[in-house]
Amino acid sequence: MNVPHWYKNAVFYEVYVRAFYDSSGDGHGDLRGLTQKLDYLQDLGVDCLWLMPTYPSPLKDDGYDIADYCGIHPSYGTLDDFKSLLDAAHARNIRIIMDLVLNHTSDQHPWFQAARADRNSPYRDYYVWSDTDDKYRGARIIFVDTEKSNWTWDPVAGQFFWHRFYSSQPDLNYDNPAVQEEILNVISFWLDMGVDGFRADAVPYLFEREGTNCENLPETHVLLKRLRQFIDENYPGRILLCEANQWPREVRPYFGNDDEFHMAFHFPLMPRIFMSIRRGDAEPIRWVLEQTPSIPNNTQWCTFLRNHDELTLEMVSEEDRQWMWNEYAPDPRMRLNLGIRRRLAPLLDNDRRRIELANSLLFTMPGSPIVYYGDEIGMGDNILLHDRNGVRTPMQWNIGFNAGFSNAGEIYAPVIDNSVFKLREVNVETQHGDPSSLLQTMQRMIAARKKHLTLGCGNLEWLDCGTRSVAAYSRAFRRERLVILNNLSDSQQSVNIKISGQTFTDVLKNKKFEAVNGQLQISLQPYEYLWLEG
Ligand code: NOJ
Repeated sequence: MNVPHWYKNAVFYEVYVRAFYDSSGDGHGDLRGLTQKLDYLQDLGVDCLWLMPTYPSPLKDDGYDIADYCGIHPSYGTLDDFKSLLDAAHARNIRIIMDLVLNHTSDQHPWFQAARADRNSPYRDYYVWSDTDDKYRGARIIFVDTEKSNWTWDPVAGQFFWHRFYSSQPDLNYDNPAVQEEILNVISFWLDMGVDGFRADAVPYLFEREGTNCENLPETHVLLKRLRQFIDENYPGRILLCEANQWPREVRPYFGNDDEFHMAFHFPLMPRIFMSIRRGDAEPIRWVLEQTPSIPNNTQWCTFLRNHDELTLEMVSEEDRQWMWNEYAPDPRMRLNLGIRRRLAPLLDNDRRRIELANSLLFTMPGSPIVYYGDEIGMGDNILLHDRNGVRTPMQWNIGFNAGFSNAGEIYAPVIDNSVFKLREVNVETQHGDPSSLLQTMQRMIAARKKHLTLGCGNLEWLDCGTRSVAAYSRAFRRERLVILNNLSDSQQSVNIKISGQTFTDVLKNKKFEAVNGQLQISLQPYEYLWLEG
């Protein structure tokens, strides 16, 4: 029997290295610090870490502005530290993927510096230049709160350069074969070192063509297929995870015919989980899964509730966006671009029942889930911090100095400790010792999720349960079936499901339920969830 590929049943965990653990005492988390905390991650049960960028960078976009693709930012450590991290992770059966920012570099990158200084430099054509700022009018602006145009005048170059994100992030010109070669070299560099793959940043925007919106162009797919082929031929088993904040029908081509990405984030599902929970109605989730085309057997969605960016509302209608802002971002400071800059627990009013429910949905929907660091202990956020920094604060390890994150007098961002998110409750050590804590609940969910291949590989079938307030579906794979019930509402709900089978066991709490005459009748408490095997 074929064993499914590892990433189909893996639990991912996103790490912001600066926030995780400071081993050097300079107030910034680093690679050695992360290495020291691998036992915690192994204990939590995660299979693969995604590291936000750790490259040398002026940090105008927290490392998504790369100044050297083959190095490590000095505040994070050295290449040797990175290698030791990989070895230590692999020894614990934890894989590591890193961010690969293909679309742009920092304006401090030597390529850009050479390009702007000399029109005849071979590097000039590494970027996209124009004498005017009126080309590619069809391309939207992504960072609407800060950028007025995708063109910025460079007085040194005497031309405008193209950028889809901050003006400190000039876009690379993939029409230039030399740029494609450079990126293949970068990929080899890290895969040779032992990295297990990449989360590829901002892939829809790699090419520009007049008369289009400059997203998802055929040329982009040709390039990505080339990268995939290169990896398959030279580094089989390593993966590519696609960041394309697009509708499922637009993301589908990024899986190709199993010859492009292994995985892709499911962006439109995420806000609908929050909509369904607020409305007590499964319809938004059901609708978006119906819009989701099937994908090749060896590929997988990557599902998430939160990440290091704002909770993006790009993939909802204007009306739903206003509704989400009203419900989830009542204070205008909570809003950023087309999204909401808050963490999971604050979004859900720190209501333990809803936090668990959201995770129940995350872990039981098709796809491999990714947990954002700190959400497993219900960390709060800080809307007073600039940009997306409010959701990137230090990991809270214990009730000690700087929450056990660092012994420096000054740290890169304050720890969250307030009347709602009290440090004495929201920290790893306290929750580790408490079987009823969110951390231990997450641990149990992750263990159950990994034990049941169905959740990673099975198909999903919606069950008619008599009420839209309950998201009821079965997941089945080979000879295993799970029936998942999520009460999305704040009231008790009785469900009645016509079903084959007799005895159903909740895999998390070990409670048993019996079907009578082919009907499974269960009463669910507000926001209660059950993962039933049978
Ligand atoms: C997506 C990343 O998640 C985000 O943090 C970054 O600002 C942009 N891409 C630009 O690289």
